[in-house]
Amino acid sequence: MTSQDEPLRPAAIRQRLKTRRIGQTIALFDSLPSTNRLARDLAQDGVEEGAVVIAEEQTEGRGRKGRAWLSPARKGLWFSVVLRPCLPEPVQPLLGFTAALAVVEAGRRCAGLDLAVKWPNDVYGGGKKLAGVLLEAVTARIGRAVIVGIGVNVNSAASDFPEELRERATSLRELARRPLDRSAVLCAVLEGMERRYDELVSRGATPLLREWRRLDLCLGRSIQVSSAGEAYRAEALTVDVDGSLLVRDGAGRTRRLWA
Ligand code: BTN
Repeated sequence: MTSQDEPLRPAAIRQRLKTRRIGQTIALFDSLPSTNRLARDLAQDGVEEGAVVIAEEQTEGRGRKGRAWLSPARKGLWFSVVLRPCLPEPVQPLLGFTAALAVVEAGRRCAGLDLAVKWPNDVYGGGKKLAGVLLEAVTARIGRAVIVGIGVNVNSAASDFPEELRERATSLRELARRPLDRSAVLCAVLEGMERRYDELVSRGATPLLREWRRLDLCLGRSIQVSSAGEAYRAEALTVDVDGSLLVRDGAGRTRRLWA
């Protein structure tokens, strides 16, 4: 077994992790259908805020818009964080920003990479997608929870992606040209997420939005929109305080898009 294929170890993660809430409870599995699905069930049963569900492999990993998310064993980080945010519901989409930006920071800290984001929650490197975030709201007996599901391609080689994805998907290993320690990347993501989450709750959205706008590849560009059965080209203008994207369509109208 090479170092890049080593399994994650909860004790090693706990020892390294410098957070107060996110990751203080970790449930790690060899294989799950989807970490989001288990995290939803745990949230409904009252698991505490910050609990993290990790799977070495997902057999039914899910992406946005009902797409499948490829999650091969030990090649990446497939995990979900349970949050119980004291935030007005309309700004909760910003929780996806905290996760995507934390992945960008982890790429810088662990591999010296300059990564970027793409609305609503994607992380890009070298023009290809490296990580994605799936947010799901849960209504539980003890109040609402939000599941932040994060998938990061860490040690996949180009040949690990199906041919149809190779042009569009990448991994930290491909970008850094060396394998990475997945525990170190996981801890960096959880720490970056907690810092931004605490800041969002205590200081509001301004610092988070400033960072997002600096790193979002779409802003100021012409993009293809496909929303509510309509398809058109538009200029991406900015992201708003509720996490929506403002665009200007061909007729000069400003329109608001939600993820
Ligand atoms: C996307 O870009 O479409 C979002 C991908 C989210 C994938 C993660 S992997 C961990 C968690 N469990 C899932 O089934 N999906 C999310």
